[in-house]
Amino acid sequence: MQGLQPSTFRAITELFHRISGIRLVEAKQALVYGRLQKLALDEGQGQDVEAFAQRLIKGQVPDRLMVELVNRLTTNETYFFREPQHFEDLRKRAEAAKSSKEFVLWSAASSSGEEAYSIAMLLADCLGLKHPWSIYGTDLSTNMVEAARQALYPLERGRNIPTEYLKRYCRKGGGPYEGQFLMNAELRARAQFMGANLMQPLPKELPQFDIIFLRNVLIYFDAAAKADIVKRVIGRLKPQGVLYTGHAESLTGLGLPLRALAPAVYCHA
Ligand SMILES: C[S@@+](CC[C@H](N)C(=O)[O-])C[C@H]1O[C@@H](n2cnc3c(N)ncnc32)[C@H](O)[C@@H]1O
Repeated sequence: MQGLQPSTFRAITELFHRISGIRLVEAKQALVYGRLQKLALDEGQGQDVEAFAQRLIKGQVPDRLMVELVNRLTTNETYFFREPQHFEDLRKRAEAAKSSKEFVLWSAASSSGEEAYSIAMLLADCLGLKHPWSIYGTDLSTNMVEAARQALYPLERGRNIPTEYLKRYCRKGGGPYEGQFLMNAELRARAQFMGANLMQPLPKELPQFDIIFLRNVLIYFDAAAKADIVKRVIGRLKPQGVLYTGHAESLTGLGLPLRALAPAVYCHA
């Protein structure tokens, strides 16, 4: 079977851990090998994956390739209206925010933007486009930030979007965009995306938020890193703000200053 030398696999996963905070376990060997092989091919780095991995470890590649390594090793799976209970909860909170002077939300691991645009569709429906709401999306992967900014998705990704929202907020592409849809311009204008590593100090541009979605990213971190990330993130949560985490991501036992309002829904303690 093809694969990296065990010491090379360890060094690559160490390197990735230093940059992203994510630990890739041994069971991910085939995945890491496959993604490195594809990266080497795409970047004209030859077919010897072991040698390419050694160049990455020794820093003998342009910085751009290190960024690309992180892009390739992150798991970006996401979809519209994932974990629908959160969107039901959000609808109630948005209704309550009708009289507030702003409603600012953050999709803190926004991947290709489906989460942020699900929020945008719901808010456009619930609060309309005159109310001052806005959404920030951040991700470690520069490729994902770019994809979220483009807001162009294959038609089949729209399967979880309510039909009424598809009609109102999505534009079906023609010609070179056949088979894809674009989020409409008014919604795109409400969402801004930028790079941010949740393991590091957060960008100054991020304000204090009414609602933070931090979903399906904590799962990749050990307890200490998870606690560290949540503390940093809730530093940007307004006193009455609400944090959503993925339903598979437990925060119990981490000693965090949070109170659970419902499964995977928290506020400041
Ligand atoms: C599985 S996706 C989750 C997307 C979305 N929140 C959802 O629930 O569908 C996880 C995202 O977290 C991002 N990510 C991983 N480590 C990160 C880090 N240290 N800082 C910021 N984003 C990170 C990945 O690039 C990926 O796009």
